[in-house]
Amino acid sequence: MKLPAIDIYSQKNLYQIFIGINLALIGIASIIYTYNIVENVDAREKRQLTLYAQLIEYSANHSTTEDYTFLFEVVKDNIFQSRIPTILVGDDNLPIDGTNLDLPAHDPSEKQKLLIEAFEEMKDEHPPIEVDVAGTKQYIYFSDSSLLVQMRYYPYVQLLSLLVLGFLAYLVFSASRAAEQNRVWVGLAKETAHQLGTPIASLMGWVEFFRTDPERYPDEYTGEIEKDVKRLEMITTRFSSIGSTPAMKHENVSEVVSSFLDYLKRRISTKVKVTFVNDLPEERQMNINRNLFEWVIENICKNAVDAMTGVGALKVRIFVLNKQEIAIDISDTGKGISRGNWQKVFKPGISTKKRGWGLGLTLAKRIIEEYHGGKLFVKNSEVGKGTTFRIVLKQ
Ligand SMILES: Nc1ncnc2c1ncn2[C@@H]1O[C@H](COP(=O)(O)OP(=O)(O)O)[C@@H](O)[C@H]1O
Ligand SMILES: [Mg+2]
Repeated sequence: MKLPAIDIYSQKNLYQIFIGINLALIGIASIIYTYNIVENVDAREKRQLTLYAQLIEYSANHSTTEDYTFLFEVVKDNIFQSRIPTILVGDDNLPIDGTNLDLPAHDPSEKQKLLIEAFEEMKDEHPPIEVDVAGTKQYIYFSDSSLLVQMRYYPYVQLLSLLVLGFLAYLVFSASRAAEQNRVWVGLAKETAHQLGTPIASLMGWVEFFRTDPERYPDEYTGEIEKDVKRLEMITTRFSSIGSTPAMKHENVSEVVSSFLDYLKRRISTKVKVTFVNDLPEERQMNINRNLFEWVIENICKNAVDAMTGVGALKVRIFVLNKQEIAIDISDTGKGISRGNWQKVFKPGISTKKRGWGLGLTLAKRIIEEYHGGKLFVKNSEVGKGTTFRIVLKQ
């Protein structure tokens, strides 16, 4: 595919890559940063627990008369302040006491029950700290403090909020860009129609004038000029339709398509075989804007003819797709479109032709999807074999 003069799409991709890399960097930085803090807090909590264990050991193994219960208070208070849930377990695997577990102070049996439950949960979380109490072993089991748990999740919460924010910003950004593009489309179309109006009206005047004097201005010439003026008029009508809310009317789509194909047949090489299959029940009328709809058929069929470079078969088939929709398949036996370009061909400025503007399919898609509420897409295509475009219209 040839690159358009101003490649807004590759620029958009660059932005996306730039924003993506930034998000990833922020994410990684935030994970590393909190990981470090988590490590520090984790080490501090372990240290407090070790102190706790040492103190239990010391008091059990040294029978001094000195009163060091205040030391217990300090260490226990530390553990309490840090909100580290712990359970002291005897070597018979029965809990003796716990901290930070919301245990009832005055109901020993209820307390024991809760301790056993908490112990079950804690058992596999961390390996316990061993305490040697006068020859027998006791174990301190513990969980992460709620602070630590929150901090572990923090970077992911942060990253998620960033993603949501980024997504919202992207939505707003692309909506405003689409609105801007809309204004350009519509404005340009209206202006073109407006500017063409005057010379066309004048040409029509001339044609009328020629008709009054067939001696001097032979009818066959005047007729030819009139045909071209009519064609110019049609183009103006198309542009002014796309520049305003087009009037929709119930039309016989098969008739619209077949009369265009008749027109096309006369203008292309006889080596292109044109067939039209109408599988629509007679009464099926569709709500369309004829001018714009013809424009779509013309764009797609002309592309098909271009793709076949003079030899091949163009087949158009209209049929009922389901209760709500009808489909028009336009197939050619041309050069085909590779899978990766099936969507790209609808973007403005994408063309493989020397003199192509790459706007035909953009316009066609816009007319079908925005003005008719239908769908236009590449149904199938194989390089070297041919392509089928499908238009889907709602009843
Ligand atoms: N039937 C087809 N077969 C193969 N390629 C096609 C067909 N229709 C469209 N294309 C490809 O899509 C491109 C864009 O088409 P279009 O938007 O009509 O612009 P243009 O006709 O000005 O190139 C074409 O240049 C061509 O490469
Ligand atoms: Mg084209």
